[in-house]
Amino acid sequence: MAVPEILVLISGNGSNLQALIDACAGKTQPALAARITRVVSSSATAYGLERAAAAGIATTVHALGDYYAGVPAEDKAARRAARKQFNVDLAALVLAAKPALVVCAGWMLILSPSFLEPVGAAQVPIINLHPALPGAFSGINAIERAWAAGQAGDIAQGGVMIHRVIREVDEGAPLVVKAIEMVAGEPLEAYERRVHALEHTAIVEGTALALAAL
Ligand code: GRF
Repeated sequence: MAVPEILVLISGNGSNLQALIDACAGKTQPALAARITRVVSSSATAYGLERAAAAGIATTVHALGDYYAGVPAEDKAARRAARKQFNVDLAALVLAAKPALVVCAGWMLILSPSFLEPVGAAQVPIINLHPALPGAFSGINAIERAWAAGQAGDIAQGGVMIHRVIREVDEGAPLVVKAIEMVAGEPLEAYERRVHALEHTAIVEGTALALAAL
């Protein structure tokens, strides 16, 4: 029986992509009964592209900078049009691969309605990894913001979640939530290492749950 195919969106290092690659290959347990059909990166220099290539996975670079090229920064309307086209073309690129599921694994750009609507219309679910607990620290730099709040004594727990992607950034229904205790005096780098280890487990669990719900 053919396993479901997933398309993974990345922007950088790709350590979460690597967790998916290893789980699909059965190198880590639990294994993931899926195949990564394509990796799309928002950056041409993302190390995750090398991880995909080493695993024999097709890759595409879809960079916002390419759409902004030649558009004056002060021409707000033209930049909005370019960003919209970036999302429209990303949806076409994703749908051309006909994935059963789209996984945002360290994807650092907001997915606009120009992307979400056609992908939603094709009934392809999208999940995202966010390195914070539900309802806290949506948006960028979540790890550092949560860590700072922990060190300030404002929160006792940090964590990660895998959630369904909706229009509101990082606000969709959680599939996996993993909390960790904040440790007073813990350096950011140490907290970050604990969070990334948690992400690598959560991303495989969340993908398996999303595939099981198809
Ligand atoms: C991770 O913390 C992820 O949650 C965030 O980007 C970081 C890098 O992830 N969105 P990866 O190593 O590129 O998978």
